[in-house]
Amino acid sequence: MAERFLVTGANGCIGAWVVKQLLEQGVEVTAFDLKADEHRHLLINEGVMPKAKWAYGDLTVAKDVEDAMTGVTHVIHLAALQVPFCRANPALGANVNVVGTVNIFEAAKKLGVNNISHASSIAVFGLAADYPDEKLASDAQRLPTTLYGVYKTAAEDVAKVYWSEYGIRSVGLRPHTVFGPGRDQGMTSQPSVAIEKAVLKEKFHVEYGGVLDFQYAPDVASAFILAARTNIDGAPVVNINGHVVGVSDFVEVVKAVTGFKELSYGTTQLPVVYSADSQPWIDLASPPPLTNLQDAIATSVRIFSNSSPTN
Ligand SMILES: NC(=O)c1ccc[n+]([C@@H]2O[C@H](COP(=O)([O-])OP(=O)(O)OC[C@H]3O[C@@H](n4cnc5c(N)ncnc54)[C@H](O)[C@@H]3O)[C@@H](O)[C@H]2O)c1
Repeated sequence: MAERFLVTGANGCIGAWVVKQLLEQGVEVTAFDLKADEHRHLLINEGVMPKAKWAYGDLTVAKDVEDAMTGVTHVIHLAALQVPFCRANPALGANVNVVGTVNIFEAAKKLGVNNISHASSIAVFGLAADYPDEKLASDAQRLPTTLYGVYKTAAEDVAKVYWSEYGIRSVGLRPHTVFGPGRDQGMTSQPSVAIEKAVLKEKFHVEYGGVLDFQYAPDVASAFILAARTNIDGAPVVNINGHVVGVSDFVEVVKAVTGFKELSYGTTQLPVVYSADSQPWIDLASPPPLTNLQDAIATSVRIFSNSSPTN
């Protein structure tokens, strides 16, 4: 049977890159999101909308999810509300991030879909100070400090129960700081906004500093695709790898690549671990090498430049 992927949160940052890459591979895609929102697709596809089958619906409505999943072979479940949105509306956050994930697994159980990847987050872990090592062990205890992190922790466990009780296979990935074109909302989006602002020659301040694990959106998208195709029994949830560097280093590369110097950054470390061991992911899927940081920023600059009004 030919592959058909359902991508939830298809209009989001990672979702837009997943849709693009799957279509480039010649795979049929059902792109599910709340409503039409073309801006990230247009940005990363040189102004042309990708030819997916668009399915608009609400993840919290079981029937919407079931309808969208009918006829698919693989699911990449990305739709969620990020930290600030969960903080602003905790009940909605729980509904989308937890009930929505239950709806995905219920529909998968009913329809016999067994190749699922889903987005957890580094936010299931606590603060850097909660752990003995700077680089978190892969089996470190989850100690979420935000409602978002609590919901993602619950969603990881939902996936595990659907494996143990119903044999539904899945792989959960925990991105850290995703960056690149399309990353325009959520707590850690500011380094990506800095790239866009530098292209526009507009002064910008990243409000925090410290060290983050920067993960390039196209690399993260291909990790989710790979994870959905692993065909392994179980419901593992793993950390993924990126570039562990200071916010200051990241911003300095943006300045060097664009020649625009009016970017600045704060000093406060965000309340997340710096990085986490991703060896179980590497052992599980043998992912391809990451795009190096300089190239990723240079490509991002080119994409933003092509869409800039001055272009
Ligand atoms: N971006 C990061 O740095 C990062 C880090 C860790 C984990 N993640 C996780 O990865 C996933 C994708 O992240 P992203 O940056 O692409 O997110 P995003 O915020 O850019 O996109 C999320 C998408 O989900 C959709 N959505 C929200 N509620 C919905 C609902 N009720 N029904 C249908 N669609 C709904 C939104 O419309 C949006 O298009 C999320 O689960 C996120 O929590 C992201």
